[in-house]
Amino acid sequence: METTKALVAHPDHAVLWHDERLYLLDQRLLPETTAFVACESVQDTAQAITDMVVRGAPAIGVAAAYGVVLAARARVADAGNHWRERIEEDLQRLAAARPTAINLFWAIERMRAFMAPLDHLDPVPALLAEAKRIHAEDLAANQRIGELGAALIASPTAVVTHCNAGALATGGYGTALGVVRSAHAAGKITRVYADETRPWMQGSRLTAWELMESGIPVTLQADGAAASLMAGGEIGWVIVGSDRIAANGDVCNKIGTFGLAILARHFGVKFMVAAPTSTIDLSVASGADIPIEERAAAEVLACGGKRLAPQAAEARNPVFDVTPAALVDAIVTERGVIERPDGEKIARLMEGECDS
Ligand code: MRU
Repeated sequence: METTKALVAHPDHAVLWHDERLYLLDQRLLPETTAFVACESVQDTAQAITDMVVRGAPAIGVAAAYGVVLAARARVADAGNHWRERIEEDLQRLAAARPTAINLFWAIERMRAFMAPLDHLDPVPALLAEAKRIHAEDLAANQRIGELGAALIASPTAVVTHCNAGALATGGYGTALGVVRSAHAAGKITRVYADETRPWMQGSRLTAWELMESGIPVTLQADGAAASLMAGGEIGWVIVGSDRIAANGDVCNKIGTFGLAILARHFGVKFMVAAPTSTIDLSVASGADIPIEERAAAEVLACGGKRLAPQAAEARNPVFDVTPAALVDAIVTERGVIERPDGEKIARLMEGECDS
């Protein structure tokens, strides 16, 4: 693997376009090994999304946008000005990579709409510019989400987060961890308690690495430790990201988020969801309509590559759950904050009006 300044392992380098290729920081290997996977084709990109080389809803969307560029380049080389007829199967291959994060479908749809009026022989430069816009807009959205979310935190407090909704999971800066970054810079975060997030360990492998790289105090805990921590009274907020928010404000996120929201309500801890508007899916009425990805049982039966469960044991592995809107205190987007979300407030936000 070539190394250049662009290809230095850094939380903001989850997705990089460099030297005519898509590079993905291999999140399966972090933090022990920092390596990039080079995607030369749309097939490579789709496989990398399925295999969790790149993960986190916005990062998946950004990677998919670059995947469309790779698809167009190959179709133009093969089929000249018939590229458009052939590319649809590539878009469908990308869309099949993972089912839950709406940002994947959002990014593909945006690239599809952008390519529709392109009539010139080589659409690649224009498509690359659009993919770079999607990437830059996601970073800017997260910075704004960071400011707005931090403003909700009234006084210095410890917070709990789940999974990784950081720079690694986005075009940069992070959603939930973007709020943490901004709030920490403002002196409002005393410590982040990161759930380890079985079975992929995004909390212990990714969130701990990302926050330590940024000098933000972080303590890992087993997923089951959140209740006793909250009972102690030190936690002011739970701050998480989202893979898809339904039209009624129900929030789909990493499995275990729903339980945290119930605990938060029980202990009077505030529950914040930080996500760009590209995560809101008005086509699903409620969380019950969101497809929940089920991954291989083997991911639960083993830990760190070592089988722990008895050979014949069965396991279920839904990797996301849905938190009802009624348990959410605030959804923070780049367009503004919705407190106590419901269908009307979500609709107003998407039409361009907002509480703040
Ligand atoms: O399975 P993953 O690692 O892709 O799941 C990621 C999450 O659940 C994140 O919390 C979510 O995508 C928000 S990322 C800003």
